[in-house]
Amino acid sequence: MPPHAPARTARPRRYLMCRPTHFTVDYAINPWMDPATPTDTPLAIRQWERLYATYVSLGHTVELIEPVPGLPDMVFAANGATVLDGRVLVANFRHSQRVPESDAYQRWFRTRGFREVRQADHVNEGEGDHLVAGGVVLAGTGFRTERASHAEARALFGVPVVSLTLVDPRFYHLDTALAVLDDDQVMYYPGAFSPESRAALRALFPGAILAERADAEVFGLNAVSDGRHVLLPSAARRLATRLAAQGFEPIPVDLSELLKSGGGAKCCTLELRHSGRAVS
Ligand code: ARG
Repeated sequence: MPPHAPARTARPRRYLMCRPTHFTVDYAINPWMDPATPTDTPLAIRQWERLYATYVSLGHTVELIEPVPGLPDMVFAANGATVLDGRVLVANFRHSQRVPESDAYQRWFRTRGFREVRQADHVNEGEGDHLVAGGVVLAGTGFRTERASHAEARALFGVPVVSLTLVDPRFYHLDTALAVLDDDQVMYYPGAFSPESRAALRALFPGAILAERADAEVFGLNAVSDGRHVLLPSAARRLATRLAAQGFEPIPVDLSELLKSGGGAKCCTLELRHSGRAVS
């Protein structure tokens, strides 16, 4: 760690993941997806298993939801719901191809003893567009999640929700453009946001790590942090250097197959949050 970098502390997390057993790209709902490009499902599974094993080796708990045949994007568990303080807002997907995933996630949560499980009225794609940073929810809109759903999240979770508008179709979910590193630290790509949202982010996180387009383009912001370790693609080299300078420990992950669907490490990972306590 560089001499003047702050000490960072990992907090054990509980995650939900979905094995990419049925992963493929046979429709296009974002600019990364091209059904004409072949996918290698066994390779996707191996890469995903390495991500899973990395979480376990860092001391995190990973729960699994059964993949459903015919739902190739179900591997992107972050989109299934937003969970805060044991309350669950189940996703309501924008595109018809993903709509049936909602029922699978709803069933999973209803049988796991969460204190409240709500099926959303408005379109929202879970943690794809809802990122929890300390006591606030950062909520994306522009491509998938409707702005009206931000009020729904505020009512259910009882915390401030900061709406952020995405303007670049390659960064169609908030978690492709911004990663929460710790309660009060984030990294993001300013070019993905409207001028008003850039101003809001500057005011909220004056010391944020700002990513360049090249690192955003390799999905460097689709990262998962436990407060100390930050899992991100090895190609995001400049971000890794900046993270290390701030005391974080970058851990490279390769999810090249899932990137063909516009997904990365964060997309595969839904955090299950209980009462601010670490549950293991
Ligand atoms: N193919 C998926 C879609 O377009 C990718 C979802 C990525 N998930 C995420 N949290 N950004 O919906």
